[in-house]
Amino acid sequence: MKLKYLGHSVFYLESGSFKALIDPFITGNPQAAAKVEDFKELSHIFVTHGHGDHLGDAVPLAKATGATIITNYEIGDYLEQFDVNIHTMHIGGRVKLDFGTVKMTPALHGSGISTPGGMICGGNPGGFIIEVDGKKIYHAGDTGLTMDMKLLEIENIDVALLPIGGNFTMDITDAVRAVDFISPKVTIPMHYNTFPIIDSDPEIFKEKAAGDVIILRPGEGYEV
Ligand code: NI
Ligand code: MN
Repeated sequence: MKLKYLGHSVFYLESGSFKALIDPFITGNPQAAAKVEDFKELSHIFVTHGHGDHLGDAVPLAKATGATIITNYEIGDYLEQFDVNIHTMHIGGRVKLDFGTVKMTPALHGSGISTPGGMICGGNPGGFIIEVDGKKIYHAGDTGLTMDMKLLEIENIDVALLPIGGNFTMDITDAVRAVDFISPKVTIPMHYNTFPIIDSDPEIFKEKAAGDVIILRPGEGYEV
């Protein structure tokens, strides 16, 4: 499976006809290594929570490509008004789909959706374990360090995508602890340096974290 980092928490995954974006915050993302128009073909869009820097361009991308948005029940309910394909699930749930399996994992964070009329409920925030071609990718979403991450160890994660930017999520110190809990084969840091408030040095994370840490600049890829 091909994985490409597009900046902030945005990742593109591809394996055969499975072409997916996770947390497609492209418009307004100073790190975005792609444009919305670049995506002509998408099968799935994963949305971890309702915040604008994750829900991002999910609606226009789903409309343009027919991709199915996979997200929690509350965000799915909100998205129904836009006439897009939606698959809702919830924390702890695992489902087999045509490309593999998806499990939604807990995240310690918020999930409100900002609308012109104010903020509305986006349910509980989460993360995803996406299994394709026998490889498991864990996208943590936005989260603080939680003991729940210890349970992810038994999932045998191949690649963990973890936030390290602090302020809204784990910082480097806590992300290092998260790696100890999860024991993934490879960790790729995310959600840092997009804005000054989440500035963080991934080289320090790489030095301190157990196992292999791959630092991807926006636009760089990794073969899982
Ligand atoms: Ni958030
Ligand atoms: Mn965020």
